[in-house]
Amino acid sequence: MHTVRQISNRIIVLLLAGTFLLSCDRQKSMRGYDYIPDMVYSRAYDTYSQNPNFTDSMTMRVPVSGTVPIGFTPFRYTIDSVSRAKAGNELVNPYLPTEDVLARGKLMFTTFCIGCHGSHGKGDGQLFSSGLYPLKPRDISAGPTARLKDGQIYHTITLGFGSMMPHSAQIRPEDRWKLVLYVRELQKETQGARDTIPSGGKSK
Ligand code: HEC
Repeated sequence: MHTVRQISNRIIVLLLAGTFLLSCDRQKSMRGYDYIPDMVYSRAYDTYSQNPNFTDSMTMRVPVSGTVPIGFTPFRYTIDSVSRAKAGNELVNPYLPTEDVLARGKLMFTTFCIGCHGSHGKGDGQLFSSGLYPLKPRDISAGPTARLKDGQIYHTITLGFGSMMPHSAQIRPEDRWKLVLYVRELQKETQGARDTIPSGGKSK
């Protein structure tokens, strides 16, 4: 004879087992229970869903040509040397070499340039000296690079130069200008060192 208590215990066990089995059947992406279905099943087309209203079936639309994002300054130069010279003549560095500006420029240099150009810009970075990168990076601390205008160095960072890759995706415009000023510091440092080299013992 089963008592009422035993029967109700069995019912509870069966219910629990049933719930367990049903929940096993569920997929992770299904919650099984929709709270506010209007929000769960969007009436609008989802970003990546197919869309019968457009001939290309895509919901995401390409911005109207010529659209410029807020805060973005278009760079109207091309990679050729004529355009590089033009950038040199037209672009003006909006920053002055203050302590903060140079600190930021140095951070950019040590993050993105030091590997190839080396800590003093001599073109002897770890990537090159270890043999991992085969192309000799330029010595940007002196010589022709020291004679480049700010806009030309900015152009180089933005679009790349010869075998050097562009860095416009990694470095923001304002940081590129600060970096240009830091490159100038490296050039001053080299110039200073050169000026203090005693010339072949004549000084005695
Ligand atoms: C992967 C290595 C590499 C990295 C990283 C790199 N460069 Fe270069 N850079 C080169 C090479 C190689 C050249 C020479 C390209 C050529 O002559 O074809 C060069 C050339 C230059 C020039 C042109 C020099 C001239 O006289 O015209 C400048 C300026 C310059 N790099 C600055 C930078 C700055 C600033 C950074 C950091 C944002 C940087 N480079 C990052 C490899 C690199």
